Amino acid sequence: MKNNKHLFQLKDRVVYVTGGLGRIGKAVCDELSKLGAVVVGLDRSLPETVVRTDIHYSVFDITNTENLEERLLVLQKKFGPAYGWANCAYPRTEDWAQSNIENIEPQSWAANIQLQMNCNCLLSAAVAKIMATRNEGSLVNIASIYGLVGPDFQIYEDNGLMTPPAYAAIKGGIIGFTRYMASHYGPRNVRINAVAPGGVAADQPAGFVEKYAERTPLRRMAEAHEVGAPIAFLVSHAAAYITGTVLPIDGGWTAI
Ligand SMILES: NC(=O)c1ccc[n+]([C@@H]2O[C@H](COP(=O)([O-])OP(=O)(O)OC[C@H]3O[C@@H](n4cnc5c(N)ncnc54)[C@H](O)[C@@H]3O)[C@@H](O)[C@H]2O)c1
Repeated sequence: MKNNKHLFQLKDRVVYVTGGLGRIGKAVCDELSKLGAVVVGLDRSLPETVVRTDIHYSVFDITNTENLEERLLVLQKKFGPAYGWANCAYPRTEDWAQSNIENIEPQSWAANIQLQMNCNCLLSAAVAKIMATRNEGSLVNIASIYGLVGPDFQIYEDNGLMTPPAYAAIKGGIIGFTRYMASHYGPRNVRINAVAPGGVAADQPAGFVEKYAERTPLRRMAEAHEVGAPIAFLVSHAAAYITGTVLPIDGGWTAI
């Protein structure tokens, strides 16, 4: 593509976003839409009235791993073949936030590995296989800084927040699988990347936000759109020579 001005353009390209109604998924939909993509937000359920008119929505439960390829083909028959796909769904058990390394509940551990890692990976594999039949595509997984480095537990002291131990296993697994897929599908021009966001601001307790900011070179938490835009970049042609990478979006958290 000679005209660099259009490298970020996704005009008329169909891009699916799982968890499209979530904090990050919504921001990803917004940024993709700004680039001209035909955006399809997928979520486990939809509100009666969806306010956005520039985005299509469809119910798609990523934890249903039955007949994945068939269901994807039905979806793509309706909205168009997936040029891009962003995995932003975040299914988790109700006790997720209470999980502690010194008191791991095996059933909860296994359930979250299934919901958050296995389901995302199986879905990614099915999506990429279909993309490969057209010799083009770009899929983005969401990992986390906690797939790259261990937590600094000092930021969780005295504020009731915690990052569950399974999160590290899940996000590390997603990073490994992203690289595996990138290697396998590179020859068929399907790019597979991941992002590793730091914490997104969402009314966390002031003490936590303060400690988080102190520990971060940019001295603040992320805004959702600051995660959405780099994901849209990875989907776009501007990232045509990028595959198998894990892009930290973390204000410098993993640089120090
Ligand atoms: N928010 C952060 O600070 C942060 C930081 C780093 C990484 N992440 C990662 O970003 C991703 C998205 O997080 P978020 O903060 O946007 O979460 P969120 O809870 O705001 O949104 C998740 C979305 O996924 C949907 N969802 C849940 N189960 C589903 C299912 N079975 N099928 C389809 N959709 C389903 C929900 O309805 C919701 O719309 C997660 O992988 C998370 O680990 C988040």
